[in-house]
Amino acid sequence: MKRLSPPSSNHLCFLLHIFLVFPLSFSLQIGETCSASGSGSCDSGLTCQTCAANGNTRPRCSRIQPLPPTSKVETAVVKGLAYNKYSWLTTHNSFALKGPNSESRSLIIAPTNQDDSITHQLQNGVRGLMLDMYDFNGDVWLCHSFGGQCFNATAFQPAINVLKEIQAFLEANPSEIITIFIEDYVVSPQGLTKVFNASGLSQYWFPVSKMPKNGQDWPTVDDMAKQNERLVVFTSKSAKEASEGIAYEWRYVVENQYGDGGMKDGSCPNRAESSPMNTASRSLVLQNYFPDNPNETVACAENSAPLVRMLNTCHKAAGDRWPNFIAVDFYQMSDGGGAAEAVDIANGHLTCGCDNIAYCKANATSGTCQVPPMSPPPPAATTPVTTENTSPFNSNFANMHARPVQLRWLLATILTKILLFQIW
Ligand SMILES: *[C@@H]1O[C@H](CO)[C@@H](O)[C@H](O)[C@H]1NC(C)=O
Ligand SMILES: *[C@@H]1O[C@H](CO)[C@@H](O)[C@H](O)[C@H]1NC(C)=O
Ligand SMILES: *[C@@H]1O[C@H](CO)[C@@H](O)[C@H](O)[C@H]1NC(C)=O
Ligand SMILES: *[C@@H]1O[C@H](CO)[C@@H](O)[C@H](O)[C@H]1NC(C)=O
Repeated sequence: MKRLSPPSSNHLCFLLHIFLVFPLSFSLQIGETCSASGSGSCDSGLTCQTCAANGNTRPRCSRIQPLPPTSKVETAVVKGLAYNKYSWLTTHNSFALKGPNSESRSLIIAPTNQDDSITHQLQNGVRGLMLDMYDFNGDVWLCHSFGGQCFNATAFQPAINVLKEIQAFLEANPSEIITIFIEDYVVSPQGLTKVFNASGLSQYWFPVSKMPKNGQDWPTVDDMAKQNERLVVFTSKSAKEASEGIAYEWRYVVENQYGDGGMKDGSCPNRAESSPMNTASRSLVLQNYFPDNPNETVACAENSAPLVRMLNTCHKAAGDRWPNFIAVDFYQMSDGGGAAEAVDIANGHLTCGCDNIAYCKANATSGTCQVPPMSPPPPAATTPVTTENTSPFNSNFANMHARPVQLRWLLATILTKILLFQIW
């Protein structure tokens, strides 16, 4: 090893540059402390929240929107992949919102699963909606109940309201595709067809005849947009495929157990109605991740590292397939990256073979990834904690951001060594 002359001012400038530029390179104020009163201080796509369930009491900007997968890939050579080559953020019981929104004017005693309207969900990038539909008051209603019977106290709103919101979104966004999963209790003849007709959604209907029956790829998202067949609807009632042209979900989709049974670390069993997760003749994979009893307090923790762990578990169980739909309660509740991050991870693998769609490189072959330099967010808790102190629930996202700190120090250390001692 040869001694180097003292570092030149150019070298020092470079070193300084490393320290100054890295912290300035974030495009989003993710992880930064924000004002708890509203999310005005956070960049778009983020809200200000804490996650007490994970010990994170400092309000910080947290993600609620996945990266739009189709537009990201549009810049690449692989333009407009098959519909089944994307992952879509899906809300469980999308309609079960807090607040007096029932037209029956009754107090709703049913539990709620989400906080914002369907329109707002769609604006945030939700593309899969789970809707429970019942006959009620001579109409079709979105309801929570038992025994297939809807009651005033469990009836959220007439389905037509929500279907019209979906119609307005599809009309305003001519390349977007929405998927609806109906938990179907409607027995009135042509009940669903009538309400879809009345909502103006029938014009966007993706026909059952075009759905792959034996594990083939779906049409591309570009094709679906061109044909204006941008609404994919599945029902839980098999007979309606023949009688009303509404696809029976489990002929096309494999789905893991919902509720508590789907939240056991390390296992991803299929729900009873679904074929086993690795059934290759079903082109679509749906991953449920929410408890039997919706719980907003713990949703931020569940929607973080445990959700990503289950993503990997279900990927294996599904025969190395990443889920096309990731269904959660309180999709906005996050400990940093949340459900949006999980969807980005699935989309990275699905669209470009990278660990996150943010790493996809335009016009590159699959597996060519560009991991952007990330800046570490301040520690999560109000009082600084060391890495050793963080709770085992600490999100994958936080861990992801812990690495760049070390990398930055490593880089700086190596550079210093090079400059001072000329290692090479
Ligand atoms: C349900 O609400 C409707 C409309 O407000 C009302 O007419 C009806 O009596 C209610 N039914 C019950 C069982 O409370
Ligand atoms: C729904 O609309 C289609 C096309 O406009 C029509 O042919 C059909 O009869 C309608 N069905 C019902 C049950 O209203
Ligand atoms: C949510 O979970 C927390 C922690 O397990 C529990 O203390 C709380 O009672 C639950 N809330 C509801 C509404 O179930
Ligand atoms: C990728 O390729 C397409 C088609 O050749 C081209 O129009 C586009 O500009 C390229 N994008 C980048 C970022 O190189």
